[in-house]
Order: sequence, then C-alpha cells, then structure tokens
Amino acid sequence: MYLGLDLGTSGVKAMLIDDGQRIVGSASGALDVSRPHPGWSEQDPADWVRATEEAISGLKAAHPAALAAVRGIGLSGQMHGATLLDADDKVLRPCILWNDTRSFREAAALDADPQFRAVTGNIVFPGFTAPKLVWVRENEPEIFARVRRVLLPKDYLRLWLTGEHISEMSDSAGTAWLDTGKRRWSESLLSATGMDERQMPALVEGTQQAGTLRPDLAARFGISGTVVVAGGAGDNAASACGMGTVGEGHAFVSLGTSGVLFAANASYLPNPASAVHAFCHALPDTWHQMGVILSATDALNWYSGIAGRSAADLSTELGETLNAPSGVTFLPYLSGERTPHNDAAIRGAFAGLGHESSRVVLTQAVMEGVSFAIRDSLEALRAAGTTLSRVTAIGGGSRSRYWLKSIATALDLPVDLPADGDFGAAFGAARLGLIAATGADPVATCFAPTTAETIAPDAGLVAAYEDAYQRYRRLYPAIKGATT
Ligand code: XUL
Repeated sequence: MYLGLDLGTSGVKAMLIDDGQRIVGSASGALDVSRPHPGWSEQDPADWVRATEEAISGLKAAHPAALAAVRGIGLSGQMHGATLLDADDKVLRPCILWNDTRSFREAAALDADPQFRAVTGNIVFPGFTAPKLVWVRENEPEIFARVRRVLLPKDYLRLWLTGEHISEMSDSAGTAWLDTGKRRWSESLLSATGMDERQMPALVEGTQQAGTLRPDLAARFGISGTVVVAGGAGDNAASACGMGTVGEGHAFVSLGTSGVLFAANASYLPNPASAVHAFCHALPDTWHQMGVILSATDALNWYSGIAGRSAADLSTELGETLNAPSGVTFLPYLSGERTPHNDAAIRGAFAGLGHESSRVVLTQAVMEGVSFAIRDSLEALRAAGTTLSRVTAIGGGSRSRYWLKSIATALDLPVDLPADGDFGAAFGAARLGLIAATGADPVATCFAPTTAETIAPDAGLVAAYEDAYQRYRRLYPAIKGATT
C-alpha cells in the first residue's frame, strides 16, 4: 500500500493505493485561508499538520488494515509558500502563500536583476518564495534575522513526518532560487536576497527517497514496518504524475482555485518573456511548462457569493448547450494575474453590461473569461515553443459541461475527460511514494488514464469565440490604464 498526501489551499487530501495502483480510499481535512490585509493570504503550518492528522485518521477509521500495510508515502503541496523556521524548527510567522501578492515591489526589483530570469528561467512573480523573504527582511527584520530554514509547505509536512529538511526539484523551481536547468540551488540568487544555501533544504528528485516515517507517527497510524517518504512534487507536477502527463506533447488544463495549462517537456524550455513558468518536473531529467491564472473556480465562487446561488446551481441554470458569447466580457483578475500579464495590481471587470444582462448571462461571461485566460496561457506556451494538439481536463471546474465546451472552443483543441476516477495530485503523490519505495520505473508507473469522452470545439462557434477573445485581449490594457 502507498499513501499520497496532497496539501492543498482549502484542505489536505490523503489517498491510499495498492500495489496495482487501485484506489483503496481517501479522506480529507479542511483548511482556511486568512486574509489579514488586501492581497495577503496566509496559513498557520500547525493547521496543515492538524488537517493531515484528520485526513489520516479518516483513512485509519475506514481502512485500518490497508493503512497498516503502507510502505511508501508521497507528498504533494500548494507551491511557493514561505514557511520560516528558527534554529529549533519552530515556525516564526504564518506561512505566506502562493496567492499572496504583498511582495510585488520586491518581486519586480529581483526580476529587474537579469541573473534571476537567466538562472531560473522564470519571471520572479510576487507569488514566488524569494520576494517573500525580501519582504520579510524589509518589514519584519527581527523575524528575518531568526530564519534558520525556509521550507515549502509540503516539505514542512515532511519535517513533521520524518524529521528531515529535504525538498525536491519541481516545488523548488517555484522559489526563484533554483538553477532550473542544472537542478540545484543557486548560491548567487540566494545571496541576492540576503540568504544562503545552509538555510535551504537538501534536494532530491521527486521519485527518490527523502526520509522515512518517524516511528512514533508510524505507531500512531498503526504501521509497523519502515515507510519510505518520496521527494514528491509541487501540486501541479504531482497532478501531472497522476494524469500521466510526463512525456513530451502531453498536457492538461486544471480548473481548480487557480487555473493551470500544463505541458510536459523532455528538455528545459524557458521563455520568461511570455510569462510562462518553466519548472523541473518530478521525474528525473524532465521539465515542464505551465501558464498559471490566479482565479479559475475562484472566479465562479466569487460570482456565486454575489449572485446568492451555489456555483453548481449557476452552472445548472446555464445548461449544457454552448451559447455564442453575449457581448459581456469578464476579466477574472480578482487577485491580479500571472500568465500572461505578471500584474499583481490589476483587478477584474465586467464590460459590456446592458439591461438584458441577467444572472445567467453573467455566469456565462465568468466561465468564458476563465476560458479566455486559459487561451492566453496557450498562446504563452506556443510562444515558448510548445505545440499542443489536445488537452485533458481536471479539477473541480471540469464537472461543468458548459465550461469544458467553452474551453475546447476558446482553445480550438479537443478536451479529453479521463474515465471515472481520481487522478489528481494525491494520486500522483501516491505514485511517487510507490516509485520511491519499490524502485519501479517512473514513466511506466505514471501512465495516463483511459479517456472516457472527448469534448470537441464547437465548430459553429469557434469564430465567434475568436472575436470575443480579441475583445477580451483589448480590455486588459484599457482596464489597466483606468484602474491602477
Ligand atoms: C503554481 C501555483 C498554484 C499553486 C496552487 O505556480 O501557484 O497552482 O501551486 O496550489
């Protein structure tokens, strides 16, 4: 048996799989985000441990014998968060999360130093880890002075599980301190932020062993033998392992809190100018690109709060037949945007409202706006040398047929839906646990699920969608000039 743990933003998911990769069970523990100021987003790492214990307790209650037979654990997690520890491994302040944009000035300053793009292959986005440390240095110097170690969220869980300070390449590539091509920390980037390599965890590949489960925790979970903990992955690379998105040309679109268009690459293909992320994959000698939009299902959830209807009800009210764009355009920049704008200050907008703009018209506009934002990411990947011929859809938003049709039409690409099952980050993490514990071949282990159905672009609406996308493109510079 193998255990995958995915530390998400809204909860921790624990999943058990057997030797044949069949899912035995899963359980979760909930998490809240605290937003003490506009643009801030924090969590207390103690809550990650609590939610993980809750999830594992759920598995223990439902599948005690299977849990007792666990031999490998894989970790996946929300990326970029800065977990700051003192010399006794005590947490110094709440973790500053991936969607926190307070350090936009510090990020711009680091990004202006050419070595960051040259070495990391990425823009220094405000959500990344390095600018957060510069913010702490400037705003909380007494805390900065006590920082002995910086860990990414899932690696803090590893510290709790194993007592080790270890990270792996895919998550570390999102810090702005990694030499992404060479897969090692860059001493020169660390020193540009007042840090040094001793403050960073040791690095392994996601498929390698990175600690073993502490005996006291093993006893609490009812496990008797040695349990290997794999390096694991950032949540996007972990999802890719779950989806079999590990070979050149394979891609997925994820509609979660944030939206991601992810492509696996056999080589390192950076192109920071297009605001595409070029990161290490969780498998050795593999990289990936992705476009990231900060509000995907978050945009529909926001509108659901305004409309007083659940997101599921709004989707049902819209129906399943794709409509031509109505002329109302929505920009989903509720907390700024990464790809393609790298703009923490921009905010969203509805444009083209009329008396006839009903709730359902606005629901449609919100979904279209997210589809167009994903199209922007497709263009960014194209500019970075990647051509896609199809994508697989995952994430909560992919339960909406309308949204899937809208994305297929906006991208003008077929969208595959995996056969029933759960191929997300927790499953990918469990696969990494299996590989680390057994030495199984990574590529053969991370195979793709069968496709249940393919959603084709609506040929009759591709042209109307293209016009609407061009309207959408024109709005960003207009709104930027008017609001920031
Ligand atoms: C990726 C990113 C998000 C988080 C969400 O760069 O910031 O996808 O990993 O958990």
